Amino acid sequence: MTTTIRWEQDRTGVVTLVIDDPSQSANTMNQAFRDSLAQVTDRLEAEKDTIRGVIITSAKKTFFAGGDLRDLIRVTPETAQELLDGGMAIKRNLRRIETLGKPVVAALNGAALGGGYEIALACHHRVALDAPGSKIGCPEVTLGLLPGGGGVVRTVRLLGITDALLKVLLQGTQYNPQRALDNGLVDEVAATQEEMLAKARAFIEANPESLQPWDKPGYRIPGGTPANPKFAANLPAFPANLKKQTNGAPYPAPRNILAAAVEGAQVDFETAQIIEARYFVELAAGQTSKNMIQAFFFDLQAVNSGANRPKGIDPRQVRKVAVLGAGMMGAGIAYSCARAGIEVVLKDVSAEAAAQGKAYSEKLCEKAVARGRTTREKADALLARITPTADPQDVAGCDAVIEAVFENPELKHKVFQEIQHIVEPDALLCSNTSTLPITALAEGVDRQSDFIGLHFFSPVDKMPLVEIIRGERTGDEALARAFDLVRQIKKTPIVVNDSRGFFTSRVIGHFINEGVAMVGEGVEPASVEQAAAQAGYPAKVLSLMDELTLTLPRKIRNESKRAVEEAGGTWATHPAESVIDRMVDEFDRPGRSGGAGFYDYDDSGKRAGLWPGLREHFTRSDAEIPFKDMQERMLFSEALDTVRLLEEGVLTSVADANIGSIFGIGFPGWTGGVLQYINGYEGGLPGFVTRANELAEKYGDRFTPPALLVEKAEKGEPFKD
Ligand code: NAI
Repeated sequence: MTTTIRWEQDRTGVVTLVIDDPSQSANTMNQAFRDSLAQVTDRLEAEKDTIRGVIITSAKKTFFAGGDLRDLIRVTPETAQELLDGGMAIKRNLRRIETLGKPVVAALNGAALGGGYEIALACHHRVALDAPGSKIGCPEVTLGLLPGGGGVVRTVRLLGITDALLKVLLQGTQYNPQRALDNGLVDEVAATQEEMLAKARAFIEANPESLQPWDKPGYRIPGGTPANPKFAANLPAFPANLKKQTNGAPYPAPRNILAAAVEGAQVDFETAQIIEARYFVELAAGQTSKNMIQAFFFDLQAVNSGANRPKGIDPRQVRKVAVLGAGMMGAGIAYSCARAGIEVVLKDVSAEAAAQGKAYSEKLCEKAVARGRTTREKADALLARITPTADPQDVAGCDAVIEAVFENPELKHKVFQEIQHIVEPDALLCSNTSTLPITALAEGVDRQSDFIGLHFFSPVDKMPLVEIIRGERTGDEALARAFDLVRQIKKTPIVVNDSRGFFTSRVIGHFINEGVAMVGEGVEPASVEQAAAQAGYPAKVLSLMDELTLTLPRKIRNESKRAVEEAGGTWATHPAESVIDRMVDEFDRPGRSGGAGFYDYDDSGKRAGLWPGLREHFTRSDAEIPFKDMQERMLFSEALDTVRLLEEGVLTSVADANIGSIFGIGFPGWTGGVLQYINGYEGGLPGFVTRANELAEKYGDRFTPPALLVEKAEKGEPFKD
């Protein structure tokens, strides 16, 4: 006998169903829950006459976590029927509770996401406790799924098709209780547990014979359905919005959600449930949801929980940090640290430059206050934590340093030397260099074991990733402290070993090079941009190149080339190089900051279309590259070099590679990350190897699969930690 749902009945006949899975810290829709739900449903029906009403709540910190992702990621087309049956059983039982003829109230004591919110939707009334961090909504779309427990059917009937799609289903927005109330997802918010339960009881008292709106005679879906000509006139706008959301990239969930909502709105409730279930199972059995669950749930959890942090070192918090350089990156780093409660000394060459760096935080705070995301008091407190200065003595007492001055090794040495004996004697020493090897930079300080790379991404306040780079002499203690610092500022840390370009800068270079090379081969430049967008990259490749400037990769390339040749190796010339050289030397188009690049720019610096000269100077009559090849050249070049980075020992974890690629350099999320892309490729690893060889045959040796990949393909072993 399972005890996932506890039955508590008081003298007035109110039954409280307390969901409390004894086997785990959060409630999920596992087998035990399904069995338990069936039992309590039977009992509710059997004892109906003695029951006045029902409250559903939970004994966990959260109300209910949703589907069991461990089960879901294992579903195959063969086991899909089982999933369909299990899902239908839950739906049937929720429906039986909903139509019991007694008032049923969801008392959401904590987060109710996905399956949790679907249980709440099957209740006649929803009261949410305004608990800190509590979230409500249907985030399934962000894992490549749809709410298959009646979530599509009921949100459409509760809010109308348009609001259900835009506010709940297509974006997967997670609302705090107050915003959930404002958007109609819950009916009441309570400040305390007691108030929540009192409100639930009051509803039961006032509504002895509750019916869902959709079970009342004459009910119509709010806002109309496609059967209504006025509504039908708007219908074509939905697929267009969808295209805007996915950019044409292969995300099947939004499409299935739209279909389930629109088709389900035109039929009765029961048929709509079946339609929803079919679309759900199609997603769950497909590859994309597995990729997304792997990355956004399992890998992210592994990375953030410190799978790659040295063991046995006590966690430490930074109290006061010195940020050296108040430019674009330094200003953003200062803001992120101050937001997390850390005192910040923001140092630049002059008091004005430092103050300008702080002004960036002032601007962000103003915006946050104006949008109601923070209070004036909190914003003022954040700003009070940032002390701008030009005086090196002000870094006294800092237990960590993050350097973000110009990308110049001599200058970086100089600024560390200036402050290394003023900060705390064991202060953690971090450099935000984007390209310089950490081991060599460390030679500029006395305590090399405390020196480490902390590579932030721009814009720092928005980008969730930080790449931690361990130099040859970096100690375990410094690595653990750097990891803790990144978590303290609520970002996601991946850990790599030192190498030119580390992981992220090196791999994104391949994406850009492929795009540029195709222009050189005479591919229509607009098609190159389109190929990147439809592959799911957030930034178009040529526009990204312009942002970075064409001269920067050229400088990095020349340095790398010199290093390779000095080590006695041969530099493998990439076809992109000659295109970049011509763009800079022959056409004087160094990128956006220079006023001209692959794109033209107007006087205000806005993109004004692709440069027509590209077609003139690079077009060749025989350039016929299939669209699929264009996309896969970008995706494969990044994936193959990631495998080489594993071979070289720069990367040591699959989860870090997957998360770093999506969160740091925009590798498409539907793939589950750069190594999961290989795992999930059609035909698995052997399929990927075959295709890489094909690309190598057609486009060059850089697509030849590395030995590690071939070996894993032969053994049938996917990339896994
Ligand atoms: P930036 O040019 O905006 O800022 C550099 C700042 O350092 C300037 O405010 C300058 O006055 C200051 N500075 C120069 N000498 C100094 C000294 N002796 N003491 C104190 N401050 C001094 O540069 P940005 O873009 O912020 O880059 C800084 C570092 O971050 C570079 O190493 C860069 O490679 C790296 N980085 C840049 C990224 C980007 O997207 N821009 C991304 C990741 C890393």
